[in-house]
Amino acid sequence: MKKAIVLAGGTGTRLRPLTDVVCKQLLPIYDKPMLHYPLATLMLLGIKDILIITTPKDLSAIQDNLGDGSELGINIQYKTQNAPRGLPEAFIIGEDFINNEPVCLILGDNILYWGQLNLLWNECLSVQNGAYIVGTHTKEPERFGIIECDRNNKVLSLTEKPTNPKSNIAAIGLYFYDHQVVDFAKQLKPSQRGELEITDLNNIYLNKGTLKAKFLSRGTTWLDAGTVNSLMDASNFFKIIEDRQGLKICCIEEVSYNMGYISRNQLLKLAQKFSGSNYGKYLEQRAKNNDTE
Ligand code: G1P
Repeated sequence: MKKAIVLAGGTGTRLRPLTDVVCKQLLPIYDKPMLHYPLATLMLLGIKDILIITTPKDLSAIQDNLGDGSELGINIQYKTQNAPRGLPEAFIIGEDFINNEPVCLILGDNILYWGQLNLLWNECLSVQNGAYIVGTHTKEPERFGIIECDRNNKVLSLTEKPTNPKSNIAAIGLYFYDHQVVDFAKQLKPSQRGELEITDLNNIYLNKGTLKAKFLSRGTTWLDAGTVNSLMDASNFFKIIEDRQGLKICCIEEVSYNMGYISRNQLLKLAQKFSGSNYGKYLEQRAKNNDTE
């Protein structure tokens, strides 16, 4: 799988008045904008062809920040979602970009701290017939899409924000689909809240017997920044780890260098762009260090 869509839409109502001045996905999570975290995840997965879908209002701010991706050795394109009509609309908006190929979807507020990205992910990345969803344990199953599985991790049911959850496994905002996803998204009808639902899309794959689930290992943390408190908690989480280790997490410039997407000189040039900041100093140090962990 070479392509991914980052969906950075929504109005960020629960984060007002912060989101009156800047869109949710550009709010800071400790030392970098939220959107850099899902972008880093895609880059770590080896995906370099990326479509960012955002609102018409937020497009220029996101474009100003990330440009066409060439500085990071990746390719970023942009499209807009004019109204919040649900996550699966991303595939309809992105039809030309997808061009009948498999595609990954990650939500622009999906913040992950990866323990180790291991070979298990290759299965998701090479899906040819079907889809993969990703699950992790949650304390608040009423807030998410919930995955019910049998003992062998076979998916039995998927329910969007259930009042009587059948499990504590939430579907995080990371999905891998085969080329049929655009056709299936076009078959969906809006739910009661007036949106196309990702759970309905995934249920199409489930009913065809081609939906599989992968689960985050306990060393991997999925963070939520949907409320002011959880935004603060996520910042503190990354501050503690980064301060302790002296290594940044989901630093897109460093990820790009470590993945071999840019050269040492390109990283040094990016460091200069941030000169006068600790972030710039960090990039310079990473470029001068030989270890690329
Ligand atoms: C969406 C999905 C839900 C998923 C969640 C992950 O919910 O509909 O299935 O568990 O993202 O963040 P929303 O955040 O749009 O309410």
